[in-house]
Amino acid sequence: MKVSSIVAFSGLFLLPPAAALVPLKFINDCVNFATGFANENTEVLSSTYVLKGTVIPLPDSCTLAVTARANFCRVKLKVTTSSSSQVITEAWLPTDWKNKGKRMVMNGNSGWGGCILFEDLAWASGLGFAAIGHDTGHVGPVATGFSNPEVWKDWVYRSVLVATKAGKAATNHFYNTPLNKSYFIGCSTGGRQALKLAQDSPDEYDGILAAAPAAYWPNIEVSEAIYAQAVGTEGSPTYLNQAQWEAVDAATMAQCDGIDGVLDGILENPAQCDFHPELMLCGPGQTWLLNGCLTLAQVQTVKKLYAPIYGNHGRYIYPGIVPGAIPSQGMFLKYGPFVGGGPKDFLRYVVFNDPSYDLVSQFNLDTADLMLDNDWSGAHSNKSDLSGLQASGNKLLMYHGLADVAIPPEASYRYYNSVSLNMTLPPSGLDSFFRFFPISSLGHCAGGKGAGYVGGPSQVQLYPGAADSVPAGNSALMSLVKWVEQNEAPETLRGYKVGLLGETLGQKDHCKYPLKMTYKGSGNPNNRGSWKCVKID
Ligand SMILES: *[C@@H]1O[C@H](CO)[C@@H](O)[C@H](O)[C@H]1NC(C)=O
Ligand SMILES: *[C@@H]1O[C@H](CO)[C@@H](O)[C@H](O)[C@H]1NC(C)=O
Ligand SMILES: *[C@@H]1O[C@H](CO)[C@@H](O)[C@H](O)[C@H]1NC(C)=O
Repeated sequence: MKVSSIVAFSGLFLLPPAAALVPLKFINDCVNFATGFANENTEVLSSTYVLKGTVIPLPDSCTLAVTARANFCRVKLKVTTSSSSQVITEAWLPTDWKNKGKRMVMNGNSGWGGCILFEDLAWASGLGFAAIGHDTGHVGPVATGFSNPEVWKDWVYRSVLVATKAGKAATNHFYNTPLNKSYFIGCSTGGRQALKLAQDSPDEYDGILAAAPAAYWPNIEVSEAIYAQAVGTEGSPTYLNQAQWEAVDAATMAQCDGIDGVLDGILENPAQCDFHPELMLCGPGQTWLLNGCLTLAQVQTVKKLYAPIYGNHGRYIYPGIVPGAIPSQGMFLKYGPFVGGGPKDFLRYVVFNDPSYDLVSQFNLDTADLMLDNDWSGAHSNKSDLSGLQASGNKLLMYHGLADVAIPPEASYRYYNSVSLNMTLPPSGLDSFFRFFPISSLGHCAGGKGAGYVGGPSQVQLYPGAADSVPAGNSALMSLVKWVEQNEAPETLRGYKVGLLGETLGQKDHCKYPLKMTYKGSGNPNNRGSWKCVKID
């Protein structure tokens, strides 16, 4: 019996046409989801079926609303993790699942978490995955709850583990058949969650996609604290405004755009760009308004931000900002909620448990040592031994935008190379379980002027229309699926340059590290045929 019968019985004449395709059994199973469902410390809060095309309002999240891309059963669970903490988990279980590979995907979080990435759940459930998401153990993109160490533990690792268990149990229970393959995808904090799974729980997922991972978490916080002090607040002599950062970007491009053989506003290998902001220094009598130049204090700010960060006794802490990083995201980093938020919150609620701690006046390099030398429940997420993952046969695909200002891509090169060194395996030896793709022009998770839409986590909401216009088959997610299920390992990752309406303006097949994206010397740079992957000597 189909739902059209319900329409007839109940007089609900306003259901959209898609409703006619939802079998009654699916709706019954959904409404009665809680019957017979058992998972440790888990309570079913609600289960409702949602029709494709429905605009779902999301009052308690960081997203206003999202449009359903499948007919699905929406299950909301509460998993208790201690006497004072819990994780809210959602499972979006599409009707069309059994003939779509019986896959489950866990969607990671961003920043301080507290928000389920509903756009990603909608996207993945539209591709036939049972899509799971969770709130990392607290509500909203805020850190105040971390003064409770249980809430901090949830954010660092526990929420992912309990949500994984609950999500798998929900999937198996609902479809009354075991899921076949499970995947984890996440960017930024989600990328850190991904690496942590690969490091500590390598058996949990068949495939893991780590995008722009925030590994070396305390190091990131230290670097941002140092940046916050270096840049200062609006009006201080060291401060640059948005237009000035854009001028820095333009000067970077003027100096370095040609290194890769084509003037397209994109640096294929920013590491080759030794940018000299001194060239922007004002001469006598010159000013920003009249001459577009920078003061000595501002040039010094730029130099500080592009240089690697060292602490006491020359201790290496973190790479500098990458030349060509997207200026708008840079401004966000300097005084927006992230930096204002990131290290300030970490120092206030985790390190000192003192909500009045003032980063600008109190932070110093001894504080940096304190931040780096403590384990913080495992927040570093930088273990370089992936032999557990190798032994499991599971796969880790990592990518990182080369114009990412929030997390410099060099951090991911360093992580990849640290695994290589720890396991004494050259890239050819890592290839069977760990592959890394640098993505030129891509900002932090999304954004940038090149072929940065790769069909990965935290992308669909920032490229409106791309989920419809770009075929999903070559997405980072489906490339991982092909690797896991058909043993077709990705040699390149297809990126799309996407216009404001979701239209495709160009493509690039991004090379696997350590191969280098190389211009063939002629041809439209927006055409993927104009590029090849070349071994670096
Ligand atoms: C992880 O980072 C911490 C802090 O920088 C460092 O002490 C530790 O050696 C790192 N571990 C690995 C495996 O790189
Ligand atoms: C690799 O990492 C493991 C676990 O942290 C450590 O015990 C081992 O010494 C490391 N091996 C090398 C060669 O660095
Ligand atoms: C699970 O996936 C593998 C790989 O695609 C496939 O060979 C197998 O038939 C699937 N099993 C089930 C029960 O669907």
